[in-house]
This record gives sequence, structure tokens and C-alpha cells, in this order.
Amino acid sequence: MDDQKTGFYIASGRIIDPFSRRDEIADLYVFEGRVVNPAELPPDVRWTRIEARGLVVAPGLIDMHVHLREPGETRKETIRTGTMAAAAGGITTVVAMPNTLPPADNPDTITWIGKKAEKEALVRVYPTGCITEGRRGEKLSPFQSLVQAGAIALSDDGNCVQNSRIMYLAMEYASVLDVPILDHCEDTTLSDGGVMNEGYWSTLLGLPGWPSIAEELMVSRDILLCEKTQARIHLQHLTTEGSVRLLREAKKRGLPISAEVCPHHLALTDSSLRNYDTRFKVNPPLRGQRDREALIEAVVDGTIEVIASDHAPHTQFEKEVEFDKAPFGVVGLETLLSVCLQELYFSKKMDLLDLFSRLTLGPSRVLGLPQPSLSYGSVADLILLDLEEEWKVDSSQFLSKGKNTPFEGLTFKGKVVLTMVDGQIAWQREERNLVVK
Ligand code: DOR
Repeated sequence: MDDQKTGFYIASGRIIDPFSRRDEIADLYVFEGRVVNPAELPPDVRWTRIEARGLVVAPGLIDMHVHLREPGETRKETIRTGTMAAAAGGITTVVAMPNTLPPADNPDTITWIGKKAEKEALVRVYPTGCITEGRRGEKLSPFQSLVQAGAIALSDDGNCVQNSRIMYLAMEYASVLDVPILDHCEDTTLSDGGVMNEGYWSTLLGLPGWPSIAEELMVSRDILLCEKTQARIHLQHLTTEGSVRLLREAKKRGLPISAEVCPHHLALTDSSLRNYDTRFKVNPPLRGQRDREALIEAVVDGTIEVIASDHAPHTQFEKEVEFDKAPFGVVGLETLLSVCLQELYFSKKMDLLDLFSRLTLGPSRVLGLPQPSLSYGSVADLILLDLEEEWKVDSSQFLSKGKNTPFEGLTFKGKVVLTMVDGQIAWQREERNLVVK
């Protein structure tokens, strides 16, 4: 048996490391799951060369908003298929939302997800637990048991806790445990029945509107409760100019608040719904151009420190119904990076270091995870990216079971060609022949 130790020598790539602010061409050595210093290479190791000339080498992305649908809805996605899609998208860590069947409001379900992920996942999976039992917004879940079982944060995502007293108690409880609350901000007394942004297009299309104010009211409430409790609160998938303004003010006052935006809200507006295409139906909805611009500005200036996909797979048959009956949600794992590159990097609004910061450092800080980096000693979760490669979105090629992308048929520049998790190749485009044996 060949028991010689092996490592990877990633040759001549452009290192992009937001943590150390490093942007330079260099070699990278990976051994026993970590990036190692070339001046201190261990002896007797057989180095497998990975040809990275002309490619970007960056830390793997952390996507802190993903619906893996297990347990309970494996027709839509599984931990296996969802993490295959993540790896293909350059994502090495996913945070799984708790709106599963049953919901992850109890330690057994969290433990079950953890064990299943250990066996089947291609990338790291961190489960979240529900804020309230059954995500009904009435009674708090047992936070401490959820955290002990492995929940990294608490969220009722898909629902928003309407009762402010329950949310107040949730934040007090979470601040004692020092665990973040991720909130889907939606006042349902205002959004009830709404299927798209309330505005010009909803009027023209005759569809019930979900107004911006329904998000902004909950953002305001959460900011006030955050100020009162000092809990770590993270606002999920923000969509409006008003939310950005409220967040910016709250941050100026030094509150422990953070926020995320999704690629579809950065790239698209409600005018995309003009053909009643359910692939554009998402909650919160696509907004107007001014909202889109405000979100982009907030990501650029760091007011929003996280970009997350809100990958929400649904089956074709569920989406192929009348607009108001279709479920909300778009898939995003396999397009996350390319859409961000288009909207933020190729549009010359951000450099690669800052863009990768929103996709790696930002989420790690919100969640209290180890800082992703390519510096010596760091865990080797990394990607190789071809910035020049053009590709056309064809959902039939997705590894995700979900084909409900709003980007079908569009051409993007920039594609991940290899993903490494814990120093091992989790996924690669074989036809690129990057690994030289
Ligand atoms: O569009 C959405 N889909 N928004 C959510 O908040 C939930 C998600 C889902 O679970 O399908």
C-alpha cells in the first residue's frame, strides 16, 4: 500500500485573500487540510500540481442563506444535491435554513441534519434552528438545546415573528447565549396576499402587491429591539431603499446589527415579472430600480456586509401554475458568484478583494466562524475561478434539483473551475485538466 503523504501545489494563480488584503500571483501549498508556508514544507510529501496560471485562487464562499429542504422535501433538494450545487458554485460553507419538514425547532432535527451532512455533504453545512416552535411565531423554541445540538443561529425564515413581545424575548434569550438571530423582515398585516412588489408593475399586471413598507416596519422594529437588548441581529435578504437608510443609521449608532442582500435583488427589478413568469416570484419580491441601486451602493460601501443566495429550490410542477399560486423562491447556488461578478466587479463598482469580502469574511464575522483566508495555517477551503470564461445558464445542467432560476439563458463571465474543502478537491471541471498527476 502506498502510504506516502500527499499535498497540493497550486501553481501560479492570482491569490485574492480579503483577510490579508493580498492580491498577487503566487504558488500555494496545501497539506493536511491547511495552507502551508512554502519556506516550511514538510519533508517526504508527494505534491500534486494544480495548474492555476490565469486563474483566481480565493477562499471558498460562505453562503449563509440556503434551503437544503432536508428533512422532508427531498423532491425539491437534498443535503447531497444542494451541497453538490454549492461546491460547483464555489461555496464551501452553507448555512441551512430551518423551514424543513419537520421544522428545525428541536434538537433532534438539528442533530439529524448534522449527521446527514457529515455523511453526505460535499461542503460544510451549519444548521440553523427556528426562533419559534413550528415557525408559528407564538412560542419560543428551546434555544439552548438547539445551540448545543449544533444550531449556529436562529431564524423563522420564510416567516417573520409578528408578535413584538415574542421577538423581544427571543432577542433577550439569544443575547444571553450570544447567538445571532437572522430575521426575515415582513409585516404580514401589510404584505398579506401580496405576490410581487407593490407599485407600477403590480398595478399594470393586476397582481396583489407586497409593499416596501412591510419590510421597513420590521427593520425598524428589529433595530429598536436590538438597541434595547444588544442582541446580535442580522437582517435577511433586504430589498428596499428605506431598509438601507434605516440600517445605515442604526450602524452609525454602533448597534450590533448586520444585513445581507441576494444576487437576484442586485440584478433584477419587478419589471421582469411582465410576462407573469413564476421563475421571478420570490419573497421578498424583486423591487424597483431605485431600490436596486440603493442595495448596490450599500454593498459597495459596506453597509451591507453579506451577499447570500437564498437558494430556494422548488419542483417544476409546483412553479408551473398561475402566478399567484406558485411558491416563492429562486435557486441561486450555481449562479451566486457569476451574478455578483457581473453586477459588482465587471461593472467596475468593486474590486475582487472587496467583493470576496462580502462572500467570505462578512458572513464569517456575522456567524462567529473562523475567518476564511489563504494565509499560512488557514483551513484550505478555496476555489479556482476563471474570470474570463463565458457561460450560458442552462438549468438542465445544474447539480441542484431546483431548476427555478431567474437567469435561464443569460450569459455570464466568470466560472468556478475547482473547489477544495478541507484541503481535498470537492468538485472540479474535469475537462479543464487542471490537476497534473
Ligand atoms: O422566496 C423565498 N423562498 N423566500 C423565503 O423567505 C422562503 C423561501 C423558501 O423556503 O422557499
